[in-house]
Amino acid sequence: MATLAQPPGEFAAIPQVPADVFTAPLKRPPQVGEDWLEPRQREYSSDEDVVWNELFARQMEILPGRACGAFMAGLQKLHLGSGGVPDFARLSESLARLTGWSVVPVPMLIPDHVFFWHLANRRFPAGNFIRTRETFDYIQEPDVFHDVFGHVPLLTDPVFADYMQEYGKAGWKAMRYNRLKALGALYWYTVEFGLIEEAGELRIYGAGILSGPREAIFALEGQSPNRIMLNVDRVMRTDYVIDDLQPTYFVIESFADLYHQTVERDFDRLYRSLNPGFTYANSAVIEVDDVLHRGTQEYHLRGGRGSDATPA
Ligand SMILES: [Fe+2]
Repeated sequence: MATLAQPPGEFAAIPQVPADVFTAPLKRPPQVGEDWLEPRQREYSSDEDVVWNELFARQMEILPGRACGAFMAGLQKLHLGSGGVPDFARLSESLARLTGWSVVPVPMLIPDHVFFWHLANRRFPAGNFIRTRETFDYIQEPDVFHDVFGHVPLLTDPVFADYMQEYGKAGWKAMRYNRLKALGALYWYTVEFGLIEEAGELRIYGAGILSGPREAIFALEGQSPNRIMLNVDRVMRTDYVIDDLQPTYFVIESFADLYHQTVERDFDRLYRSLNPGFTYANSAVIEVDDVLHRGTQEYHLRGGRGSDATPA
């Protein structure tokens, strides 16, 4: 398996989006070009550095013993807890040595095809802003804490780093088949909300769980959600929620398992067999599932976020 890979070839240029492919109508701010990269990382105020430090400290109360080993090791290797919002140039230097990745600042959520292009070239786009005290607990738009604390530590793991690049390259094919939604579900259930088996126990590797205060215990120990072994064909047909805890988590055996399950698959065949919409509800358990825990779904049945349901 190649690390420090030099992709390009067909991945060198930003892909063209076919005319029939729907992309979110994002308005590009004037300071960024076609690549959506900010001219530089912004300077954070000391108050903003304190927000980072407090978010970091809060996660460190929750994550040891719950986050996967590679994530905890990545935090150490990159010194993400050394005070304040990390400097992207310093992070990129360390990542370049470890796995050939870099971290680049973007103003907001960027269009899928540009995101794929950066990943295919081993650049991780990270938000150039941080949440405020008012949005301390929950922010829908990915900020620098979600992006850097949640995602970047795992880019120090050579196999996961390769998976992320392959995911970016997969975007080209998904666009050709007009199946971005399905590829998005794969990202959601792995990179954002994935669980992994480690020494007979479940651990978290998904950035959406790792960067927030509510979901770690729910995902690992809650009775409500399903926990099912990852099956790529099935996951790519499965709907997901973006603004609440997940009704279902998918579990991998290892990053090598994730890499092989996805990279060695015949995606042409898969895309030809997929419907444009999702086939399975996000709480469904289906016949082919290798189920570790069949959830009660009590949290969602009681109304989920915004209700008085406890995430248990
Ligand atoms: Fe994310």
